[in-house]
Amino acid sequence: MEFVDVCALESIAPGGSRAVRAGGRDIALFNVDGTVHAIENACRHGGAALAGGKLCGRIVACPAHGWKYDVTTGAHSIAPSLSVEKFPVEIVDGRVRIATVNATQESI
Ligand code: FES
Repeated sequence: MEFVDVCALESIAPGGSRAVRAGGRDIALFNVDGTVHAIENACRHGGAALAGGKLCGRIVACPAHGWKYDVTTGAHSIAPSLSVEKFPVEIVDGRVRIATVNATQESI
């Protein structure tokens, strides 16, 4: 598994989020009580970006119509078949690194 650097840890405040792109994937990062989680940044309903959605604990509400996902697992709140992908995260020297298939850094 190869991890790629995507952003500084300090750029995601606790309770906050941000969008990044790595390995050809749009990824939403969420800081839940100091731990960063990475999930696919596209709601299964209409494709809206989940980064920037209201985060309540570990649950993010899609900003478009409110579908809810657990950012620690990518699980949809009601229907498991509608879950989004979760990506491994590591923090190295204050930097957030994500593992994706064909991971290559594309933008920060
Ligand atoms: S696009 Fe996310 S709930 Fe509709």
